Amino acid sequence: MPITVNEKSRLFCIETDNSEYQLMADSFGVLRHLWYGEKVGMSMEYLQEYPDVGFSGNIYEAENLRSYSLDTLPLEYSCGGVGDFRINALSAVHSDGSFALDLRYAGFKISNGKYGIEGLPAVYANDTEAETLEIFLKDTASDISVTLKYGVLPKLDIITRSAVIENGGETGVFLTNAASLCLDMPCDYNEWIHFHGRHTCERLFERMPLLHGIQESSSQRGTSSHQQNPAVILCGNDCTETNGGCIGAMLMYSGSFSAKIEYDQLEQVRLIMGINPALFRWELKKGERFCTPEAVMSYSGSGFERLSHNFHKVIREHICRGKYKLSERPVLINSWEAVYLDFDDEKILAAAKEAAKLGIDMFVLDDGWFGKRDDDVSGLGDWFVNPNKIKCGLGELAKKIKALGMDFGLWLEPEMVSENSNLYRSHPEWAIQIPNRKPMRGRFQLVLDMTRTDVRDYLYKSISDILKSAEISYIKWDMNRSICDWYSACLESKNMGEMPHRYVLGLYELLERLTQDFPDVLFEGCSGGGGRFDSGMLYYCPQIWCSDDTDAFERTKIQYGTSFFYPISTMGSHVSAVPNHQTGRVTSLNARSVTAMSGSFGYELDPSALTEEEKTEIPMQIKRFKNYRKLIHNGKYYRLTNPLNDNSALWEFVSEDKTKILLQGMQFRAEPNFMRHRIKLRGLDENKKYVIAEDERIYTGNALMSGGVLLPAAKGDYFAYEIFITEAK
Ligand code: GLA
Repeated sequence: MPITVNEKSRLFCIETDNSEYQLMADSFGVLRHLWYGEKVGMSMEYLQEYPDVGFSGNIYEAENLRSYSLDTLPLEYSCGGVGDFRINALSAVHSDGSFALDLRYAGFKISNGKYGIEGLPAVYANDTEAETLEIFLKDTASDISVTLKYGVLPKLDIITRSAVIENGGETGVFLTNAASLCLDMPCDYNEWIHFHGRHTCERLFERMPLLHGIQESSSQRGTSSHQQNPAVILCGNDCTETNGGCIGAMLMYSGSFSAKIEYDQLEQVRLIMGINPALFRWELKKGERFCTPEAVMSYSGSGFERLSHNFHKVIREHICRGKYKLSERPVLINSWEAVYLDFDDEKILAAAKEAAKLGIDMFVLDDGWFGKRDDDVSGLGDWFVNPNKIKCGLGELAKKIKALGMDFGLWLEPEMVSENSNLYRSHPEWAIQIPNRKPMRGRFQLVLDMTRTDVRDYLYKSISDILKSAEISYIKWDMNRSICDWYSACLESKNMGEMPHRYVLGLYELLERLTQDFPDVLFEGCSGGGGRFDSGMLYYCPQIWCSDDTDAFERTKIQYGTSFFYPISTMGSHVSAVPNHQTGRVTSLNARSVTAMSGSFGYELDPSALTEEEKTEIPMQIKRFKNYRKLIHNGKYYRLTNPLNDNSALWEFVSEDKTKILLQGMQFRAEPNFMRHRIKLRGLDENKKYVIAEDERIYTGNALMSGGVLLPAAKGDYFAYEIFITEAK
């Protein structure tokens, strides 16, 4: 029983294998947060001893008890306007214009299994894997009630949060903030980690001390964005990969989000995470309810490594779905960096023939096959094959590629429209733009209004027609700009503060229909590379193109940051040509393959342009990857160095039974006249004996973890390593 209640003291304990979470409804009915961290085995209320903090007022019923203040107590779901002057989780404007909410405890319910969320992706688990706690809160003056939902997956050390807000009053209200998570913590956490970046340089790890006041990681771009990722970590300054307490929180949402952290006057920490309130104003009419997206949390008492393992497992086994959730992904070749938009069917077939000879499983035809799309300023929206380019037709092309022994995949950018397209000419009102204003163009394209059912129906029909017209095994679902100019003629309320969230709901609805109706198709997410790399998209697409930067050196940093929350199997990662198209850097084919293998592996180059030597090396790479694929995707992942600070990126995969280990990575700069570097492995069995491929010695697990593996001396910059270790028989 992971959830226990002491009904007398109204104390709720949520226990997982290695963590404990406590909350309590106090004698005033205020829901207080008591604890999230190590297992403690008693109520942690004793820590909440407060002085009379000047200018932190007291609730009316507390009378002259001046040490009791909503402004200082750790709260489970804080509201604005009634004396908690910190950042809040929920705000509403009532019909009289006031904007106060005072939520008090009204009961609870415990049930087996994991709750779902209407219209939104959520962690799923069966009755033996999870339990749900619901806490009911009510603002008596307005009849607004809130249900806080907690999903517990004890074996995974995962707790999820979501809130349902219901208007039981007689008049409508406007929600101006409805966060998924409010987490108040004592002062053990004085640092935070977030993942920032830009197009071609996503999810760079950044660790910062908490400063008094508010810090934020957020997006207002309509997508989760390249610039920030909806996932943050709170930790102490002594926390490392293997030591120290840390809490990870990830929002399962693909739109504008906000993760705000306040380090308050008493050096307590509050994290608020949810839909970005800057773009949110939701009308809740009488009797209506609003469900927030899901926030997924985990606590690790032994550093970031364990935290990542917890998130990797929950994403792979309880967020990703469908045929490809755990099965092996095809090694694919994508046409983008090979031919860009300049191709016809003959060129594609010539490339496919060469690709098939290399042992590649799938050929993906990227942008340019549809409408009038000879450059990137036209054609989006016209999802019909361009007969001037694909003269034989899509069905025939797929057949010919199939006959070469490969599956066929296709690129789409469904949410977009070019002004120079038949779709825009017949339905200009489907594009998001404000009457009497010129819209922003991004990559010279406009965004379709995904809140409209006619738009979604058009897209469903076009995409399902394409999928039925040819043997297509894979779709790359791209989305290449940020969204603004929020306006929809179809929103009767004329309240555009609802539109950014309704866009995401519309997107999810369409993805749900398509992924359910075409269960054999592998969907890969993409947004100018990794601009929408989040666990919301992973519910529909088990892999996402990690970045438009395919440079092997840059990728080690991008994939390092991505790995804190997201499992290796979710990161689309390809070997491309050199000099690299984004950076001009030259790295060896081996270095490029080693980096791409720590992902969902593939190629993105013109196979007709390969040298004889490369044509011999690539089939061997594919063979190696297929040998290691299970270990890479199902094994535990360990970050051994930090490529942002160190002269190398080294990582390791260990099988569940600890009998197989793959050490991979790259030394960035060669150094003369130095000893061989050694790297200490992690996660091995200290009592097992191991052998290293092409080495005659027998090593103990302890030696490899305490003394380390001696790495070959690096010759030249970007020198790649790949060392396979197995248990000695
Ligand atoms: C985006 C994607 C690329 C490619 C192009 C095509 O930038 O990230 O991989 O598909 O669009 O236009």
